[in-house]
Amino acid sequence: MHSPVPSSDASRKPLGIVAALPQEITQLIAELSLDPDLRVVTLGRRDYYVGRLWQQPCVLTLARIGKVAAATTAAALIHEFGVGAMLFTGVAGGLGAALRVGDIVVAETLMQHDMDASPLFPRHQIPLLARDRFDSCALLTRRLTRAATDFVEQVLPGLRAHHGWTLVRHAPQVHLGLIASGDQFIAAADTRATLRAAVPQALAVEMEGGAIAQVCYEYDVPFAVMRTISDSADDAATVSFPLFLDEVASVYSYGVIRRFLEMTEAAEV
Ligand code: ADE
Repeated sequence: MHSPVPSSDASRKPLGIVAALPQEITQLIAELSLDPDLRVVTLGRRDYYVGRLWQQPCVLTLARIGKVAAATTAAALIHEFGVGAMLFTGVAGGLGAALRVGDIVVAETLMQHDMDASPLFPRHQIPLLARDRFDSCALLTRRLTRAATDFVEQVLPGLRAHHGWTLVRHAPQVHLGLIASGDQFIAAADTRATLRAAVPQALAVEMEGGAIAQVCYEYDVPFAVMRTISDSADDAATVSFPLFLDEVASVYSYGVIRRFLEMTEAAEV
């Protein structure tokens, strides 16, 4: 096991890139493995890949599933690896009426739909933090939205023709808005309806983003979250989710994050 990188050793603070499942970042790990200076640090039963992606210093890791896993990973990225910002990529269930499998949601705001300490605190409010919503960093979110839009418009048509993905049946769209997170895989029409009634503005549901957002808020670390819609959080979710994960998810993460990092480099020249 290597020791974590102290932030003072880095010429610039690295970007933490996090996903929940290996299939979401297979291609990014392969790309990072081309870096001759790549170091793999094992900490808290996770591997942190410390290297450069498209010239940008990065720490790429798998949080695993759920809010606790995401929060501990985010805290380690901040305290052990000195990241200056964080990006979360992965899949989500679509909630908004306009959301379809293959669309991308970039989070403007995140919340935790399963937080309920009522009547002590208002439902969804994080106790003693006095808030139930966390805004992503406007600059990173703008850049991520542009990267996602470029990917969807310029790259995805060719990839869809090449791969012949049956799950992505329409021209995908990029949406910006609220993502709801909770320790629950939503896979039934009635659960979906209950969640939509409780959080009508939510575009997508997943299991980590709201925890990353809370930790980043608490430590003043800018962050952004992108999610590709793998299923509609309904009775078909248990079929759509694993297929999408195996066939499509990694291609989206790679394509969008590559563009995001290339923009980052251009912005800093
Ligand atoms: N991630 C992807 N699909 C999801 C769903 N239906 N519920 C929770 N998290 C998800």
